[in-house]
Amino acid sequence: GTVVLAYSGGLDTSCILVWLKEQGYDVVAYLANIGQKEDFEAARKKAQALGAKKVYIEDISREFVEEFIWPAVQANALYEDRYLLGTALARPCIARKLVEIAQKEGAQYVAHGATGKGNDQVRFELTCYALCPKIKVVAPWRLPEFYQRFPGRRELMEYAKKHGIPVPVTPQTPWSMDENLMHISYEAGILENPKRGSHRAEGVSCICSLIGNFTAGRVSIPGVGGRWGVPVKVTNTGDGARRCSALELFVYLNDIAGKHGVGRIDIVENRFVGMKSRGIYETPAGTILYHAHLDIEAFTMDREVRKIKQGLALKFSELVYNGFWHSPECEFLRQCIGRSQEAVVGTVRLSVFKGQVYILGRESPRSLYNEELVRGTYSPCVSNHFPFLFDFYIAVFRLKEYHRLQSKVTV
Ligand code: ARG
Ligand code: SIN
Repeated sequence: GTVVLAYSGGLDTSCILVWLKEQGYDVVAYLANIGQKEDFEAARKKAQALGAKKVYIEDISREFVEEFIWPAVQANALYEDRYLLGTALARPCIARKLVEIAQKEGAQYVAHGATGKGNDQVRFELTCYALCPKIKVVAPWRLPEFYQRFPGRRELMEYAKKHGIPVPVTPQTPWSMDENLMHISYEAGILENPKRGSHRAEGVSCICSLIGNFTAGRVSIPGVGGRWGVPVKVTNTGDGARRCSALELFVYLNDIAGKHGVGRIDIVENRFVGMKSRGIYETPAGTILYHAHLDIEAFTMDREVRKIKQGLALKFSELVYNGFWHSPECEFLRQCIGRSQEAVVGTVRLSVFKGQVYILGRESPRSLYNEELVRGTYSPCVSNHFPFLFDFYIAVFRLKEYHRLQSKVTV
């Protein structure tokens, strides 16, 4: 039969490609462009030379931003209080296209090169089975006939040499990397020792200077697609540069934040499969947008709605991490969270400096902040009633304020 292989161009999936052919499959190679730096044409030639009967190179970076990253920004999604889910969000986006290609090619099988110890196998496979229940997934790293033959990198290299697979010319990094538009992760190898320091790679030093203020603008367009709480414009108040499309503004923020060393973490996390793992993640634009969104949300969202939404976001993050993007429960949460965002509009002014995101100010037509009310030290509205029925008066007060401020705005 025909198998569509999620191909990265690297040593592992190149060996898998040849191995699948050896097993009698016709192999279609699919390489996703999800924002990683890569010579895609070289990878195409490589796959062809290795005997792929067809090669797909699909640019899915835009749909990655709009359909996967934006909902995560709306949710303020964080796994175990720190991880912005860069890899976890990319997997369902990559796998969705994998299934689409399999259907177009009439292929019964799809294959991937994720290991049997990680989260990625789970994310790929849950997506494939959810979107196409009759598909069969081939996961070589879980097949004894594959992993027994390739117990280590040495055997992969030997196999590659024997089968004319070009082996990497650059020396192997002592860790494994996964890169997409949202983040780069570094794991495994020497980083498996959690005590060992994770130094910033040479040449990627943190520039410690203030190069300007950056505005992440959010404007609502009610009725058009019902998308609120997502960035629509970024203005550099230093040089006036402006970016408006989702992909462009994300790339721009990556550049700015990357230069300032924003969004790098060193974390030990719990994998779905039951083990702890150590990783270093760099998520520059994602980190700026996390802070900007958090700020404008606090400014525009009712207190009690926010509490409930926070609980939903915790659940959402766990589902995303565990590979359940395409599940009824996760779709339901995305809708709830999306609905919570309809007043989350406005402009946040911020700067990035020495690896930090500093919020400098905000404004919004849907603000629930009442400057007049908060001014001064004496509050005639609530404290007067203390201590009798205090909670009750707070509730009445909050609801009155909410509706008063709401009815002022017509967006
Ligand atoms: N541990 C992170 C996660 O589970 C990053 C995984 C990186 N994947 C990779 N194939 N290197 O999302
Ligand atoms: C892998 O094992 O393929 C990488 C790590 C992960 O998926 O969590």
